[in-house]
Amino acid sequence: MQNFDYQTPTRLIFGKGVIAKLPEVMRAFGPKILLTYGGGSIKKIGLYQKVHELLKDFEIIELPGIQPNPKYDPSVLDGVRLCKEHKIDVILSVGGGSVLDCSKAIAAGACYDGDPWDLISYKVKAQAALPIVDIITLAATGSEYDCGGVISRTETNDKIGYLDRHLFPHTSFLDPTYTFTVSKKQTAAGIADAMNHTMEQYFVADATLLNDGFCESMFRSLMTNGRKCIENPEDYTARAEMMLACTYGCNGILALGNSKSGWPCHGIEHALSAYYDITHGEGLAIITPRWMKHILNDRTLPRFVKYGINVFGLDAALDPWTIAEKAIDETYAFFESIGIPMHLREVGIDESRLDEMAHHIAVNEGLDQAYAPLTEKDIKEILVASL
Ligand code: NZQ
Ligand code: ZN
Repeated sequence: MQNFDYQTPTRLIFGKGVIAKLPEVMRAFGPKILLTYGGGSIKKIGLYQKVHELLKDFEIIELPGIQPNPKYDPSVLDGVRLCKEHKIDVILSVGGGSVLDCSKAIAAGACYDGDPWDLISYKVKAQAALPIVDIITLAATGSEYDCGGVISRTETNDKIGYLDRHLFPHTSFLDPTYTFTVSKKQTAAGIADAMNHTMEQYFVADATLLNDGFCESMFRSLMTNGRKCIENPEDYTARAEMMLACTYGCNGILALGNSKSGWPCHGIEHALSAYYDITHGEGLAIITPRWMKHILNDRTLPRFVKYGINVFGLDAALDPWTIAEKAIDETYAFFESIGIPMHLREVGIDESRLDEMAHHIAVNEGLDQAYAPLTEKDIKEILVASL
């Protein structure tokens, strides 16, 4: 078991109607709030109106229009400018992971005098950030419980996962009823994202029985409840369990004491969505089974056997290679069964930029250090197999 140093300071307030506590939480900060949101879903579900009603005694400045795969320019830059101009006390992020990730970069940029890209690109370490409160409306990223934000810079095809301990939300509100309106496409992408967060922590050299049990339970819960959410978007119990599972997915709790994994599927997917602006969870679902096939060898075989038996209930008496291959096929079949397009061509990616992307990933993502190290050639082969 590896040493670790771990702290998650975020307060989680979970359940139907918990938004009633919003004024109490916001009163801990000053009166000036930057309200961040996306393209309008929060207005359709009445949440925007509800937030204004609850916070009528506060001064609210708004940053709307944050896009999926949130962009440095204009969203982060606009948000930083608004925070500085209005001397904002706290950021309230209402929406999916993209809105929250963008809000995290804004929170750090608002407390820094230079170009906020210095922070996101790790040139300068943040010394402080504005506090962030969020109301998460889509179960997927786990951004509500972690200190990361993923920001895209279109002109350089960069999509950087920016981690800093100042970026943990102060409080996250999780009301599963807000996720009832999430489309089948985004629900499925969210399931795939959280499944992959779990895989990135499960496929490692040194793991514990304890963590393996958590991860295997995550896989089973996400598949069972995920299917139910797709079939009946208003199934509260399924939406609630999916939401909690997604929250656990990305803050490292599933991997305490494990050796490092390198998060290879994320490294590859971030380039796909940087170059083609595709939906993160769909890119992951396409890459994952091809990555699995690529790294299956004598050394990794026992992990795949364990995964196949404990997650898909495969017969332990079968030959180990058969179990591993079936487990990979089951993974593919699950993603396909929830409606995810399973080929890059279906999401608008052809062979024209694969070399460029493989090179970009090899140079920027450090996947030669992953659990199963990947060279530029390996990455290209995984991309070609995913076409
Ligand atoms: O923009 P609006 O109108 O709000 O619509 C959004 C958006 O179009 C919609 N949506 C959100 N809540 C809804 C809803 N539609 C109906 N009803 C609701 N209740 O869903 C669409 C997608 O939203 P987005 O926020 O982009 O999705 P998600 O939460 O999956 O976030 C994806 C982003 O997070 C990053 C990804 O790379 C991607 O940029 N990630 C962040 C991580 C983190 N912070 O820890 C880890 C992940 O691995 C991931 O990389
Ligand atoms: Zn992810």
